[in-house]
Amino acid sequence: MTETVQMDLGKAEAILRRNGKGRDLCVKILQELQAAYGYLPMAVLEYVAAHTEISRRQIYGVATFYDQFRFTPVGKHLIRVCHGTACHVNGAEGITETIEQFLKIKDGETTKDGLFTLESVACLGCCSLSPVMMIGETVYGRLTPDEARKILKQYKVREKTDRKEAS
Ligand code: FES
Repeated sequence: MTETVQMDLGKAEAILRRNGKGRDLCVKILQELQAAYGYLPMAVLEYVAAHTEISRRQIYGVATFYDQFRFTPVGKHLIRVCHGTACHVNGAEGITETIEQFLKIKDGETTKDGLFTLESVACLGCCSLSPVMMIGETVYGRLTPDEARKILKQYKVREKTDRKEAS
């Protein structure tokens, strides 16, 4: 077992210690695990099944039922494109399509270099700015496909510059 996995399980152990081990805590525990790891690693889910009253079946049932849970790590930049009603009406579909083409990934996927993950989400709470996307914690509103592309180009340029400076 690698050190990384041991460290990961340590975080899970702390979450279980804090919350308890009852079946009724499944959603809360999964939410905290995802917040701690950024996603739900299989090894961690197995650990939870082995150390709580929550069965493996319940864990996977809940984790696959709710959209908020993910089983793979997210990229460095998580792009969330809002597909709530206002954003949908104002062109969210075109924004997602543009990003898919630009990054050569599909909705829900991460680029091979691990830099970007694209995700469609429900209302982000700033409908007056629709269509909206967030990259990390930064909100970009009143988007057009061209603007979305321009913003992503800037991220790519910044990444290239950072890499050059680091080498
Ligand atoms: S519908 Fe997109 S922010 Fe509300």
